[in-house]
Amino acid sequence: VSNESIKNYFDLSGRVILLTGAAGHLGSVIALGLCKFGATLIINDNNNEKLISLYERLRSCKYNCFPIVCDLQNDASLKIMTQHIRKKYKHLDGIINNAFMGKTGIIEKITDKDFSNDYHITVISAFRLIQELLPLLKKTAKKNIAGVSIVNVGSMYGTVSPDQRIYGDSDQNNPPQYGAAKAALIQLSKYLACHLAPFKIRVNSVSPGPFPNLTVTKQNKKFYKKLCDKCPMGRIGLADELVGPMVFLLSDASSYVTGINLSVDGGWTAW
Ligand SMILES: NC(=O)c1ccc[n+]([C@@H]2O[C@H](COP(=O)([O-])OP(=O)(O)OC[C@H]3O[C@@H](n4cnc5c(N)ncnc54)[C@H](O)[C@@H]3O)[C@@H](O)[C@H]2O)c1
Repeated sequence: VSNESIKNYFDLSGRVILLTGAAGHLGSVIALGLCKFGATLIINDNNNEKLISLYERLRSCKYNCFPIVCDLQNDASLKIMTQHIRKKYKHLDGIINNAFMGKTGIIEKITDKDFSNDYHITVISAFRLIQELLPLLKKTAKKNIAGVSIVNVGSMYGTVSPDQRIYGDSDQNNPPQYGAAKAALIQLSKYLACHLAPFKIRVNSVSPGPFPNLTVTKQNKKFYKKLCDKCPMGRIGLADELVGPMVFLLSDASSYVTGINLSVDGGWTAW
């Protein structure tokens, strides 16, 4: 491999990447990071106001990005969005399934509807999005040695259970269905990695550890300290610490990597 191509390993110039849940706490920072690495970004969210505000911020920096408001849990909307993408873009080099919406809670209080909701947005929406965009991904993958790349956002709780001694009565209790859905998504990634490998479509998971937003860290100092203490690195993650792992998995730098679950958790799941 020439020095020149090694230098370009992480370059996303000319790559069209779809990021769901882009307007959120982690999504908006990942979006900015991917743009900085040259990606042409399709940003999706179901929160119109937040998505347009992100779009305006990215456009003011002259980045190539296009917003699509769509509720991924509504299959008719999902189909309209994917049809639009298939028509407008001649290629699609990557998807990050990042969207999530769910509530905190404990087994005694969670309903089957809460359970279905988390499973739907985490697993079914990701599955449907990939399924609808598969023809475009297959077509794109033929042209590139690294193929195309799908990244599904899991969680440390897709691998290990929340430690109830940390959550106690913090009101931040991670509910039973969250980790179950994330575990299913991590497994779906492995299934798809094997099934789609012959088409040069790579599928991996990135599992963030503790990345609470400012509201949680400011309003619940006791809980915040417990989170930091539990983590081998002694601190929470900063949203932009997810950019490097995402760029790695979306770029040629990971051309032989598929089916992994990349933990970005300060060592949380290494105990
Ligand atoms: N923040 C953390 O500590 C943490 C830890 C582990 C994993 N994760 C995972 O990282 C991802 C991002 O988390 P976050 O903290 O940024 O959450 P967030 O709530 O800030 O962002 C999620 C975004 O998804 C959007 N969304 C929800 N339902 C949607 C739908 N039906 N259609 C389209 N968009 C929808 C929301 O509007 C929101 O902007 C999630 O998958 C989450 O489970 C987060």
